[in-house]
Amino acid sequence: MDKEYSEETIDRFQDPEYSGEIENADAVGKAGNPSCGDVLKVFLKIEDNVIKKARFKTYGCIAAIASSDELCEMLEGKTVEEARKITGKDISQELGELPPVKYHCSVLGTEALKDALDNYKEE
Ligand code: FES
Repeated sequence: MDKEYSEETIDRFQDPEYSGEIENADAVGKAGNPSCGDVLKVFLKIEDNVIKKARFKTYGCIAAIASSDELCEMLEGKTVEEARKITGKDISQELGELPPVKYHCSVLGTEALKDALDNYKEE
């Protein structure tokens, strides 16, 4: 395993608690990373403007899986407006800092989230 990853990142990669799909999700978003070809989908259950449940599915690297898992945990309990403010840097910090070359992987999650929230607004 790559020694540049924090323990938190490796733990989340090995046992991602928030991996999966939500049936009848209120919002679904997708993002792709053109530099590596990885794809990420985020599913949200939203009630009264609060994210009650967040799950993800990805064909991604270690950092993408760990970042998405972290992001979903951060999302639950947040309002839609608070969720929009989460950055790749916030996720990386929560993970104990990603290696700089892997920072773009955390941005994949925030892009999928933004897509989901944009789709939600349109409804
Ligand atoms: S290398 Fe593709 S998301 Fe990390």
